[in-house]
Amino acid sequence: MFSGPREKGQGVLVMELQLLPPSKKTQNRVYTFAVNNRKYVLKVYRGFDRFARRGREKLLIEHWKHKGFKVPEICDMEIESAAEPYLVTKFIDGPSLRTYLSGAQPGEQLEMLSRLFEQMSNRHHIAIETNDERLVQYDANSRNIICAQDGFYFVDFEAFNRKHLSVEESASIEAATLCRWIAGDIGVKFLEEVVRIMARAYQRDIGLLKLIVARTTARPFQFYHRWKNARHKKKNPAAATKYDVADTLARVITCVR
Ligand SMILES: Nc1ncnc2c1ncn2[C@@H]1O[C@H](COP(=O)(O)OP(=O)(O)O)[C@@H](O)[C@H]1O
Ligand SMILES: [Mg+2]
Repeated sequence: MFSGPREKGQGVLVMELQLLPPSKKTQNRVYTFAVNNRKYVLKVYRGFDRFARRGREKLLIEHWKHKGFKVPEICDMEIESAAEPYLVTKFIDGPSLRTYLSGAQPGEQLEMLSRLFEQMSNRHHIAIETNDERLVQYDANSRNIICAQDGFYFVDFEAFNRKHLSVEESASIEAATLCRWIAGDIGVKFLEEVVRIMARAYQRDIGLLKLIVARTTARPFQFYHRWKNARHKKKNPAAATKYDVADTLARVITCVR
């Protein structure tokens, strides 16, 4: 049991926090709790730069919302016993993309992915057109996308454009990284299908697709990178690598143009 939260003008309520499975990449703790039959998410930021990460997350959620993209709503709640810094958001009802994909049939999976890439490519198109790097998700993975009734909600905005890449480059990394996660979720044998769906959705931003290919296959020392890739593949045969995505996309691109 925990004391709090205190919504403005309300007394202290008692609630039970349920810890969500922790991410391997961060030390954060993410909980769900309910008040008056409404479900919320409490994210407690831990580790390096936690105040800045919390600030960035809040700013990006507000920015995406302002631009009309689907993100959880931030709630102004005081949770007495939670360590600072933290953020409370409304719980988005629906499975994460990873959970959805693990329980769906191939036909349903691909149909869902086609809707997802359509929604993402619209956001990336606006991001590139308006040179808005804040409209990129810098920690793309299938746990950070929630499949709700009214579309896909994105969560987890702590990461940022560390390498000062262009908006198009950052967007291309988001799309390619997500492809790799999805192939990991539904099986690498579906990678070509996934890449085709992505390429169809990004037809009007063909430059972004070409960047995915070029950033991997046109780097210097290809012999070395391909050797490392082959070694990695041997150890992790179920994973889709950057080269798997780039090589497949290079083949597919000519067909969709
Ligand atoms: N508002 C929300 N509604 C529903 N699920 C959420 C919400 N916020 C986060 N989650 C789920 O909790 C997981 C962890 O939250 P996240 O912000 O990604 O933190 P971290 O990656 O540091 O653990 C997410 O991947 C998502 O599946
Ligand atoms: Mg996350």
